[in-house]
Amino acid sequence: MLRADLNDRLTQVGPGTPMGELYRRYWLPVATETDLHDNPVKRVRILGEDLVLYADDTGGLGLVSERCPHRGASLGYGFPENGGLRCPYHGWLFDGEGTCLEQPNQTPDSPSLRERSRIKGYPVRALGGLVFAYLGEAPPPAFPRFDLFTWQEGEGKFRDIGHAVIPCNWLQIMENSFDPTHVEWLHGRLYNYHLGREGKEPTVLGGHHVKIAFDLVEYGIIKRRLREGQSEEDEDWRVGHPVVFPNILKVGGNGLASFQIRVPMDDTHTLHFWYQWFEVPERFADQVDEILHLPDTYPVTLQGPDGSFLMDTIDSQDAMVWVTQGGRTSRDDEHLSSSDQGIAMYRNLLRAQLDANANGESVMNVLAPEDDYVINLPQEQKELGLDSGTGANPFASFLRLQSRYSQRLPELVRRIDAVIADGQDAVTSAH
Ligand code: FES
Ligand SMILES: [Fe+2]
Repeated sequence: MLRADLNDRLTQVGPGTPMGELYRRYWLPVATETDLHDNPVKRVRILGEDLVLYADDTGGLGLVSERCPHRGASLGYGFPENGGLRCPYHGWLFDGEGTCLEQPNQTPDSPSLRERSRIKGYPVRALGGLVFAYLGEAPPPAFPRFDLFTWQEGEGKFRDIGHAVIPCNWLQIMENSFDPTHVEWLHGRLYNYHLGREGKEPTVLGGHHVKIAFDLVEYGIIKRRLREGQSEEDEDWRVGHPVVFPNILKVGGNGLASFQIRVPMDDTHTLHFWYQWFEVPERFADQVDEILHLPDTYPVTLQGPDGSFLMDTIDSQDAMVWVTQGGRTSRDDEHLSSSDQGIAMYRNLLRAQLDANANGESVMNVLAPEDDYVINLPQEQKELGLDSGTGANPFASFLRLQSRYSQRLPELVRRIDAVIADGQDAVTSAH
């Protein structure tokens, strides 16, 4: 259990809060590049601040306060021009640093009024299909180039980015990443209950956890699990998979490598990215070239029309338990058990990093501005345990995840099915 005041300290992210200040030390993804191509002006809410992200007419990116200092209209309805963003109401023009460049109907021009009309502007940069922003004090730290952000598409590899706004506090989502045993219940027994009601085959995710373990490492925490029937040589135990402090889970297998990235929008909303790389066996690599023209980003549906969570994907099952704990759950009435040891470790790590930040000490994964290198992270390569009843197509089982809402993956699965069917025809006719 966690006292209410300590819970506030770990969960609140607005300006001036301890956790809000810690998050302001990191580059955070705020949108996808593809979404910004579709519409170059996008309202975003990050760490309790209402902001507008835009691509200007010279190809640069900017992130500024949403509220226009003239009479308060939303710059989210503005338009890019002259290397900046114009307010939709009277055309005041702002650059990416928040400097007011023009006040068209103010005569004569008033440099002091322009100076007083400055708004907030934050550094932005694109990498790996995502747009990242830094909301903290200058100078920004070096961008931590975690491996997947640096990969290139082609030769059987492609990227696919699902995103959704999850209506709950970010910590509930992160704590789920330190909770291995939920897999056997939420994604195993509960899922099998629903599949059984529909007359479908059960999953293979219900295996009982014999033991779990967590190791503190340089960039976060590695979690390990051992299920009935596995040995300590199994990758689940030997390699495990990492949570990168403060807010990225790396997970994969079966040709998938992915980050689940959780960005606090405010105390009760979290922007969630499923940042995924797929690598197909060589035999199907040509099929990847045929889907690269499709968008690499998609919104994920987690709830049905009546607002209840869908129970037919692993990710919507997760979202259900994140959100039903409450917008920002209380923790003074919880009863942690031995299966929650990873959660306790993560909370201790958060508290230690909050203290370090408050004392002006270095904090985890905040690099010096001159640091510039790729950070490789471990990950199991084994099967994800999704494959029951899905036949020969190595990617079909991913449609049990939120990837079913992707524009690329279902098309690739369809194409691979056709290649497999062609191969079987060829074998049959050769006989
Ligand atoms: S309210 Fe923005 S220019 Fe007038
Ligand atoms: Fe889960």
